[in-house]
Amino acid sequence: MDRLEITGGVPLEGEILISGAKNAALPILAATLLSESPVLLENVPSLNDVMTTIKLLRSMGAEITLHDGWKLEIDPRTTTEYVAPYELVKTMRASVLVLGPLLGRYGRADVSLPGGCAIGARPVNLHVAGLKSLGAEISIEGGYIHARAEQLRGTRLTLDSVTVTGTENLMMAAVLAKGETVIENAALEPEVLDLATFLVQMGAKIEGAGTGTIHIQGVDNLQGTPYTILPDRIEAGTHLLAGAITGGHVRVKQVRPSNLDAVLRKLEQAGARIECGSNWVDLDMAGERPRAVNLSTAPYPGFPTDLQAQFCALNSIASGTGKIVETVFESRFQHTLELQRMGANIGIRGNTAVSKGVDRLKGAPVMATDLRASASLVLAGLAAAGTTVIERIYHIDRGYECIEEKLAQLGARIRRLPI
Ligand code: UD1
Repeated sequence: MDRLEITGGVPLEGEILISGAKNAALPILAATLLSESPVLLENVPSLNDVMTTIKLLRSMGAEITLHDGWKLEIDPRTTTEYVAPYELVKTMRASVLVLGPLLGRYGRADVSLPGGCAIGARPVNLHVAGLKSLGAEISIEGGYIHARAEQLRGTRLTLDSVTVTGTENLMMAAVLAKGETVIENAALEPEVLDLATFLVQMGAKIEGAGTGTIHIQGVDNLQGTPYTILPDRIEAGTHLLAGAITGGHVRVKQVRPSNLDAVLRKLEQAGARIECGSNWVDLDMAGERPRAVNLSTAPYPGFPTDLQAQFCALNSIASGTGKIVETVFESRFQHTLELQRMGANIGIRGNTAVSKGVDRLKGAPVMATDLRASASLVLAGLAAAGTTVIERIYHIDRGYECIEEKLAQLGARIRRLPI
């Protein structure tokens, strides 16, 4: 298993290009199953989670060609299997996103239950309940969701709590259902809107995506289209934090600044000067130490849970005391234990982490426990004195394209140690 070695203490400077969003690419790849002709996707990020999804679609019979620059051509017409096996779902929970499209297009889906997850229970009960309301018969046996439906029928769904992939699964199931579906308390995330934009381009009738109420009028079929995946706001935020934690000056390009509002406000509170253009964000710390911030995670447009761990790293070297409350997932604080091994002073009580900033972290061998936790360790390593070696970086490769190359481009002393 590869490791990352980082020698900290260099203020990062320069500019980098941000890749396509993982959390938009995964549902859009699943949605290609709905199409009756080939789809061409551009700005697909080169990530392990995308590779896992490609493997999953291929295992169902779809033909996928990878062109230069990560353009993907997907021909779903050869799909003959409607199964997402445990072997793939266990490595990537988002595999559950094939449930809605398979059921909508082929009337059947056998999808392994994702099971436990390093950041909490993460059930799929709302996906299942919504599909049942759309008329599916669902049984859960042997660790699999078995879903069947001759023809899904439009219905009114009110989600008990906001779920991103749940909203996406139900939207994908409803686009070919008979009649109108209304999803209330839908997730507002930009990735939900990107999926809806893609579906509309394929011929779906969807209104209100990106708001709490989505109206979907079922259509008879969907056709392939070229589509460019939206930029990754979490990758952008992580690289901006890399600038902030090192007292540097970083510009991220090919981003949608409006999707980063909550994050940019927190970076400003931390002392960063932020400037935005139409598709770039510039962060300048002017060599200053960041100030600790208080924040509470929430569904979009609130502060994203996927950047919580990275702000924990920032608070651990900031001046003052910062309080971070995690409201979206339980047990998403494993990174704090590793940060403590580097000298951070963080106390956890329930869903709250209180950090008293220390002058300097010290490099140490540490272990990545999940995707965003591993990003926080990279940030800590960039700020720490001495050398940090991060193990189990397959977690990082699930969600960050070429992280060491992009950081090295900003002047970081970072290298991958293959084993
Ligand atoms: C998605 C993102 C993930 C992000 C998360 C929250 C993808 C591929 N992943 O994950 O990066 O951290 O949104 O922004 O887009 N819940 C239920 N029952 C359900 C579904 C969810 O109780 O059926 C709960 C979860 O346990 C969690 C909360 O709802 O506490 C939010 O989860 P959800 O929005 O579903 O997260 P994901 O879609 O899995």
